[in-house]
Amino acid sequence: MSMPLYGGAQSRRITISDLVSAKTRKEKWPMITSYDALTASLFDEAGFPVLLVGDSAAMVVFGFDSTIPVTTDDLLPLVAAVVRGSKRAMVVADLPFGTYSTPEMAVETGTRFMKEAGAHAVKIEGGAEMSALVQALVTAGIPVVGHIGLRPQHVHSMGGYRVQGRGEQGAQILADAHALVDAGVFAIVLEVIPHELAADITSNIPVPTVGIGAGPECDAQVIVWQDLMGLTPGKPAKFVKQYANVHDVILKASSEWARDVISGEYPDLDHSYE
Ligand code: KIV
Repeated sequence: MSMPLYGGAQSRRITISDLVSAKTRKEKWPMITSYDALTASLFDEAGFPVLLVGDSAAMVVFGFDSTIPVTTDDLLPLVAAVVRGSKRAMVVADLPFGTYSTPEMAVETGTRFMKEAGAHAVKIEGGAEMSALVQALVTAGIPVVGHIGLRPQHVHSMGGYRVQGRGEQGAQILADAHALVDAGVFAIVLEVIPHELAADITSNIPVPTVGIGAGPECDAQVIVWQDLMGLTPGKPAKFVKQYANVHDVILKASSEWARDVISGEYPDLDHSYE
Protein backbone atom coordinates (compact mmCIF):
# COMPACT_ATOMS: atom_id res chain seq x y z
CA MET A 1 0.00 0.00 0.00
CA SER A 2 1.50 3.34 -0.97
CA MET A 3 1.16 6.29 1.35
CA PRO A 4 -1.15 9.20 0.46
CA LEU A 5 0.35 12.48 -0.71
CA TYR A 6 -0.93 14.44 2.31
CA GLY A 7 -1.94 17.17 -0.12
CA GLY A 8 1.61 17.47 -1.45
CA ALA A 9 2.55 16.91 -5.06
CA GLN A 10 4.99 14.08 -5.76
CA SER A 11 7.61 16.55 -6.97
CA ARG A 12 7.84 18.96 -4.07
CA ARG A 13 8.50 18.91 -0.34
CA ILE A 14 5.64 18.51 2.11
CA THR A 15 4.66 21.81 3.70
CA ILE A 16 3.12 22.83 7.00
CA SER A 17 -0.21 23.45 5.29
CA ASP A 18 -0.19 19.89 3.86
CA LEU A 19 0.10 18.56 7.43
CA VAL A 20 -2.47 20.89 8.94
CA SER A 21 -4.95 20.15 6.15
CA ALA A 22 -4.40 16.39 6.65
CA LYS A 23 -5.78 16.98 10.15
CA THR A 24 -8.86 18.66 8.70
CA ARG A 25 -9.41 15.61 6.49
CA LYS A 26 -8.75 13.31 9.50
CA GLU A 27 -5.92 11.72 7.51
CA LYS A 28 -3.31 10.17 9.83
CA TRP A 29 0.38 10.31 8.94
CA PRO A 30 3.62 8.68 10.07
CA MET A 31 6.85 10.41 11.02
CA ILE A 32 10.07 8.47 11.48
CA THR A 33 13.55 9.38 12.65
CA SER A 34 16.47 9.36 10.25
CA TYR A 35 20.11 10.28 10.80
CA ASP A 36 21.79 9.56 7.44
CA ALA A 37 21.24 9.90 3.69
CA LEU A 38 20.53 6.23 2.93
CA THR A 39 17.71 5.75 5.43
CA ALA A 40 16.37 9.19 4.48
CA SER A 41 16.19 8.12 0.86
CA LEU A 42 14.46 4.82 1.79
CA PHE A 43 11.90 6.51 4.04
CA ASP A 44 11.33 9.16 1.38
CA GLU A 45 10.74 6.42 -1.20
CA ALA A 46 8.32 4.74 1.23
CA GLY A 47 6.39 8.03 1.31
CA PHE A 48 6.95 9.32 4.86
CA PRO A 49 5.87 12.97 4.81
CA VAL A 50 8.13 13.99 7.72
CA LEU A 51 11.59 12.84 8.80
CA LEU A 52 12.86 13.77 12.26
CA VAL A 53 16.55 14.09 12.97
CA GLY A 54 15.95 13.52 16.65
CA ASP A 55 18.38 14.19 19.44
CA SER A 56 17.81 10.46 20.01
CA ALA A 57 20.90 10.38 17.75
CA ALA A 58 22.75 10.86 21.04
CA MET A 59 21.86 7.26 21.88
CA VAL A 60 21.32 5.43 18.57
CA VAL A 61 24.18 7.11 16.65
CA PHE A 62 26.67 8.37 19.23
CA GLY A 63 26.25 5.76 21.99
CA PHE A 64 25.39 8.06 24.92
CA ASP A 65 22.86 6.87 27.52
CA SER A 66 20.63 9.96 27.25
CA THR A 67 19.93 12.76 24.77
CA ILE A 68 21.66 15.35 26.93
CA PRO A 69 25.27 15.23 25.66
CA VAL A 70 24.57 15.67 21.93
CA THR A 71 25.57 19.06 20.47
CA THR A 72 24.55 21.25 17.56
CA ASP A 73 27.82 20.44 15.82
CA ASP A 74 27.08 16.70 16.23
CA LEU A 75 23.60 16.99 14.70
CA LEU A 76 24.22 19.49 11.88
CA PRO A 77 25.96 16.99 9.53
CA LEU A 78 23.24 14.39 10.20
CA VAL A 79 20.51 16.86 9.31
CA ALA A 80 22.36 17.89 6.15
CA ALA A 81 22.69 14.22 5.14
CA VAL A 82 18.97 13.58 5.69
CA VAL A 83 18.06 16.65 3.63
CA ARG A 84 20.40 15.49 0.83
CA GLY A 85 18.98 11.96 0.97
CA SER A 86 15.34 12.99 0.68
CA LYS A 87 13.36 14.80 -2.00
CA ARG A 88 9.84 15.04 -0.71
CA ALA A 89 9.79 14.76 3.09
CA MET A 90 9.83 17.73 5.40
CA VAL A 91 12.96 17.43 7.56
CA VAL A 92 12.61 18.47 11.21
CA ALA A 93 15.71 18.93 13.38
CA ASP A 94 15.73 18.62 17.16
CA LEU A 95 17.37 21.51 18.98
CA PRO A 96 19.81 19.87 21.41
CA PHE A 97 19.65 20.27 25.20
CA GLY A 98 21.12 23.57 26.41
CA THR A 99 21.04 25.25 23.00
CA TYR A 100 17.71 27.05 23.48
CA SER A 101 17.81 28.31 27.04
CA THR A 102 16.81 31.82 25.87
CA PRO A 103 14.87 33.05 22.83
CA GLU A 104 18.10 34.52 21.43
CA MET A 105 19.93 31.21 21.74
CA ALA A 106 16.98 29.37 20.19
CA VAL A 107 16.95 31.67 17.17
CA GLU A 108 20.72 31.34 16.78
CA THR A 109 20.60 27.51 16.95
CA GLY A 110 17.48 27.23 14.77
CA THR A 111 19.04 29.50 12.17
CA ARG A 112 22.13 27.28 12.02
CA PHE A 113 19.98 24.19 11.41
CA MET A 114 18.14 25.95 8.60
CA LYS A 115 21.08 27.73 6.95
CA GLU A 116 23.89 25.23 7.42
CA ALA A 117 21.95 21.95 7.19
CA GLY A 118 18.83 22.86 5.21
CA ALA A 119 16.29 21.80 7.90
CA HIS A 120 12.72 22.82 7.19
CA ALA A 121 11.62 23.09 10.84
CA VAL A 122 12.91 22.53 14.36
CA LYS A 123 11.52 20.74 17.42
CA ILE A 124 11.88 21.90 20.99
CA GLU A 125 10.83 20.29 24.26
CA GLY A 126 8.69 22.22 26.75
CA GLY A 127 5.27 23.68 27.43
CA ALA A 128 3.77 27.09 28.24
CA GLU A 129 7.10 28.33 29.62
CA MET A 130 8.44 28.15 26.03
CA SER A 131 5.84 30.55 24.58
CA ALA A 132 8.15 33.56 24.15
CA LEU A 133 10.85 31.33 22.72
CA VAL A 134 8.47 29.75 20.18
CA GLN A 135 7.26 33.20 19.17
CA ALA A 136 10.85 34.35 18.65
CA LEU A 137 11.59 31.34 16.44
CA VAL A 138 8.42 31.74 14.39
CA THR A 139 9.06 35.48 14.00
CA ALA A 140 12.53 34.64 12.71
CA GLY A 141 10.95 32.37 10.08
CA ILE A 142 11.79 29.10 11.79
CA PRO A 143 8.79 26.72 11.89
CA VAL A 144 8.47 24.94 15.24
CA VAL A 145 7.19 21.56 16.42
CA GLY A 146 6.47 21.43 20.18
CA HIS A 147 7.16 18.38 22.38
CA ILE A 148 5.33 17.81 25.67
CA GLY A 149 4.57 14.93 28.03
CA LEU A 150 7.73 12.91 28.58
CA ARG A 151 10.60 15.20 27.66
CA PRO A 152 13.78 13.13 27.43
CA GLN A 153 15.99 16.22 27.81
CA HIS A 154 14.43 16.61 31.29
CA VAL A 155 15.02 12.99 32.30
CA HIS A 156 16.86 13.99 35.46
CA SER A 157 14.35 16.58 36.65
CA MET A 158 11.44 14.24 35.80
CA GLY A 159 12.98 11.36 37.80
CA GLY A 160 13.37 9.00 34.85
CA TYR A 161 11.48 7.95 31.73
CA ARG A 162 7.95 7.71 33.20
CA VAL A 163 4.40 8.19 31.98
CA GLN A 164 3.48 11.87 32.31
CA GLY A 165 0.10 13.57 32.68
CA ARG A 166 -1.75 11.09 34.87
CA GLY A 167 -4.37 12.57 37.19
CA GLU A 168 -4.23 16.30 37.84
CA GLN A 169 -1.03 16.70 35.82
CA GLY A 170 -3.13 16.14 32.69
CA ALA A 171 -4.71 19.60 32.90
CA GLN A 172 -1.24 21.17 32.86
CA ILE A 173 -0.28 19.24 29.73
CA LEU A 174 -3.50 20.31 27.99
CA ALA A 175 -2.78 23.93 29.00
CA ASP A 176 0.77 23.53 27.65
CA ALA A 177 -0.61 22.33 24.31
CA HIS A 178 -2.91 25.36 24.06
CA ALA A 179 -0.07 27.75 25.00
CA LEU A 180 2.22 26.24 22.34
CA VAL A 181 -0.49 26.56 19.69
CA ASP A 182 -1.07 30.20 20.68
CA ALA A 183 2.69 30.80 20.42
CA GLY A 184 2.73 29.45 16.86
CA VAL A 185 3.81 25.78 16.72
CA PHE A 186 2.52 23.87 13.69
CA ALA A 187 2.50 20.43 15.36
CA ILE A 188 3.04 18.97 18.83
CA VAL A 189 4.73 15.70 19.79
CA LEU A 190 2.96 14.01 22.72
CA GLU A 191 5.31 11.53 24.34
CA VAL A 192 4.24 8.79 26.78
CA ILE A 193 1.01 10.22 28.17
CA PRO A 194 -2.32 8.43 28.81
CA HIS A 195 -4.20 7.87 25.56
CA GLU A 196 -7.37 9.59 26.88
CA LEU A 197 -5.37 12.76 27.53
CA ALA A 198 -3.80 12.59 24.06
CA ALA A 199 -7.28 12.18 22.54
CA ASP A 200 -8.52 15.19 24.49
CA ILE A 201 -5.58 17.35 23.34
CA THR A 202 -5.95 16.12 19.74
CA SER A 203 -9.61 17.08 19.55
CA ASN A 204 -9.05 20.45 21.20
CA ILE A 205 -6.20 21.95 19.19
CA PRO A 206 -6.13 22.93 15.50
CA VAL A 207 -2.61 21.61 14.75
CA PRO A 208 -1.59 17.95 14.37
CA THR A 209 -0.59 15.94 17.42
CA VAL A 210 2.20 13.44 16.83
CA GLY A 211 2.07 10.60 19.33
CA ILE A 212 4.81 8.38 20.68
CA GLY A 213 3.40 6.22 23.43
CA ALA A 214 0.28 8.42 23.40
CA GLY A 215 -2.30 6.03 21.98
CA PRO A 216 -4.27 5.69 18.78
CA GLU A 217 -6.15 8.98 18.63
CA CYS A 218 -3.26 11.30 17.78
CA ASP A 219 -3.24 12.78 14.28
CA ALA A 220 0.18 11.28 13.55
CA GLN A 221 2.70 8.88 15.10
CA VAL A 222 6.49 9.10 15.39
CA ILE A 223 9.01 6.37 16.10
CA VAL A 224 12.78 5.96 16.33
CA TRP A 225 13.57 3.75 13.32
CA GLN A 226 15.99 1.50 15.19
CA ASP A 227 13.20 0.72 17.70
CA LEU A 228 10.72 -0.05 14.93
CA MET A 229 13.13 -2.32 13.07
CA GLY A 230 14.44 -4.22 16.09
CA LEU A 231 17.96 -2.83 16.04
CA THR A 232 17.98 -1.11 19.45
CA PRO A 233 19.34 -3.51 22.09
CA GLY A 234 17.42 -4.33 25.28
CA LYS A 235 13.75 -4.60 26.13
CA PRO A 236 11.72 -2.14 24.07
CA ALA A 237 9.32 0.33 25.71
CA LYS A 238 5.66 -0.77 25.92
CA PHE A 239 4.64 1.49 23.01
CA VAL A 240 7.19 0.01 20.61
CA LYS A 241 5.90 -2.58 18.14
CA GLN A 242 8.78 -4.14 16.23
CA TYR A 243 8.19 -4.70 12.51
CA ALA A 244 11.52 -6.39 11.74
CA ASN A 245 14.54 -7.90 13.45
CA VAL A 246 17.38 -6.00 11.83
CA HIS A 247 19.64 -6.88 14.78
CA ASP A 248 19.53 -10.56 13.80
CA VAL A 249 19.82 -9.83 10.05
CA ILE A 250 23.00 -7.78 10.54
CA LEU A 251 24.47 -10.17 13.10
CA LYS A 252 23.90 -13.19 10.82
CA ALA A 253 25.16 -11.57 7.60
CA SER A 254 28.24 -10.00 9.20
CA SER A 255 29.14 -13.24 11.03
CA GLU A 256 28.79 -15.29 7.83
CA TRP A 257 31.04 -12.86 5.93
CA ALA A 258 33.60 -12.90 8.75
CA ARG A 259 33.58 -16.74 8.73
CA ASP A 260 34.09 -16.78 4.96
CA VAL A 261 37.01 -14.36 5.22
CA ILE A 262 38.64 -16.48 7.91
CA SER A 263 38.12 -19.73 5.97
CA GLY A 264 39.28 -18.17 2.68
CA GLU A 265 35.91 -18.75 0.97
CA TYR A 266 35.58 -15.00 0.40
CA PRO A 267 36.57 -13.54 -1.96
CA ASP A 268 36.22 -16.26 -4.60
CA LEU A 269 37.09 -15.64 -8.25
CA ASP A 270 33.51 -14.51 -9.02
CA HIS A 271 34.17 -11.53 -6.77
CA SER A 272 37.69 -10.80 -8.04
CA TYR A 273 39.07 -8.96 -11.09
CA GLU A 274 41.03 -10.44 -14.06
O1 KIV B 1 14.69 12.50 19.53
C1 KIV B 1 13.73 11.87 19.08
O2 KIV B 1 13.89 10.89 18.34
C2 KIV B 1 12.40 12.31 19.46
C3 KIV B 1 11.25 11.44 19.10
C4 KIV B 1 11.29 10.18 19.83
C5 KIV B 1 9.96 12.15 19.26
O3 KIV B 1 12.25 13.34 20.02
